[in-house]
Amino acid sequence: MLGARCLLRALRSCSSAPCPRPKPSAKLSVRDALGVQNASGERVKVQGWVRSVRSQKEVLFLHVNDGSSLESLQVVADSNLDSRELDFGCSVEVQGQLVKSPSKRQNVELKAEKIEVVGNCDPKDFPLKYKHRPPLEYLRQFPHLRCRTNALGSILRVRSEATAAIHSFFKDSGFVHIHTPIITSNDCEGAGELFQVEPSSKIKVPEENFFDVPAFLTVSGQLHLEVMSGAFTQVFTFGPTFRAENSQSRRHLAEFYMVEAEISFVESLQDLMQVMEGLFKSATAMVLASCPEDVALCHRFIAPGQKIRTYVKKQLFNWGVDLHTEHEKYLVKHCGNIPVFVINYPLALKPFYMRDNEDGPQHTVAAVDLLVPGVGELFGGSLREERYHFLEQRLARSGLREAYQWYLDLRRFGSVPHGGFGMGFERYLQCILGIDNIKDVIPFPRFTHSCIL
Ligand code: 4AD
Ligand code: MG
Repeated sequence: MLGARCLLRALRSCSSAPCPRPKPSAKLSVRDALGVQNASGERVKVQGWVRSVRSQKEVLFLHVNDGSSLESLQVVADSNLDSRELDFGCSVEVQGQLVKSPSKRQNVELKAEKIEVVGNCDPKDFPLKYKHRPPLEYLRQFPHLRCRTNALGSILRVRSEATAAIHSFFKDSGFVHIHTPIITSNDCEGAGELFQVEPSSKIKVPEENFFDVPAFLTVSGQLHLEVMSGAFTQVFTFGPTFRAENSQSRRHLAEFYMVEAEISFVESLQDLMQVMEGLFKSATAMVLASCPEDVALCHRFIAPGQKIRTYVKKQLFNWGVDLHTEHEKYLVKHCGNIPVFVINYPLALKPFYMRDNEDGPQHTVAAVDLLVPGVGELFGGSLREERYHFLEQRLARSGLREAYQWYLDLRRFGSVPHGGFGMGFERYLQCILGIDNIKDVIPFPRFTHSCIL
């Protein structure tokens, strides 16, 4: 086995290009080409997909996009160039000189010396059309092509930046990243919205579970994070989560990404809420700083730095009835269309792991949701029941005592007050971009009756 240092040395000494080759024009992404200051004829090569072709008397204008930025690179070619195959949607490789553009609309343009069509695109059959901005709903029929539009391009670039921003927030705050399992034998939320995992029928042994116990796609990594917070104090996970909810609503998916954090030695909801608010503001500020053009393309509901207020649910609604979308919308509106924390929910409505507030007769648990304009519930979190006997009784009442012995053990061996939360990543993107339907902020949406591709 090679040691890490040895391996690194070995890797440094190999090269994927052993024969010296003539130095070609530098290959640049569209983003890097557009960023060149005082362009003065540098020879470059750019590859991408044609977003427009405009032929004038003496020149031919192309716009080429490679997904690295919202803006496309203008390519200017001699009109004598054979442009018969240059259609909207085709892929090209352009070599030429980067020069300062005479137009105010862009900083630089590429004076083409050679344009090669890499892959043709028949405009008659191509579902996307030049200068046509179809509604997002129409584009959903083409999950394999819609990423080539400006709208999906911007949304998915923001998604990528937001992922990095969330990881940075946790890293900078001293959290350890944990890969929680996708396949699990627990139903963390106890709502029965599980997809069962079994081998396909060909290899299935009748009457036998592959894992010996029924196994499911995870609905939340929380319980595994609780294990890890008992060693690392502050942990987070950010991965796919699955719910067999029979819903095609504009805020539910069968497969979505959840950001979850778990923190030991936390005794109050306020401490948890601070982390939730910090994550929300910091990730949003980073996204706004890293891709302002993409964000500007989408309508924005809220801006970072807005004040988040707390509100006590029982003042507005009938006690003991769960909040529905209309209630959430009402609360957010009532508070002035800003994000709103709702705390202390009825014990009877919430899962077994939430900490009992021991506050009868309206018996509550220390739960917290963050509701946001346009979306409703964005975060769900709570303090966890760290007291052995309280938890044991709750589990016994739900008939889960045996299955959760390991979870009870965490309360036997060095238990600490702790808490955590989960944030739906697609709902977060909907919220900051003002996107109405959750199916438009994930590359390949999965929901009831739809699993295209
Ligand atoms: O409120 P939920 O169900 O909380 C949990 O699963 C906790 N175990 C998390 C934790 O404390 N570690 O889900 C958390 C968030 C919701 O607030 C919502 O934003 C999102 O996940 N979510 C969904 N997003 C898209 N489609 C669905 N079907 C969703 N269900 C929940
Ligand atoms: Mg919830």
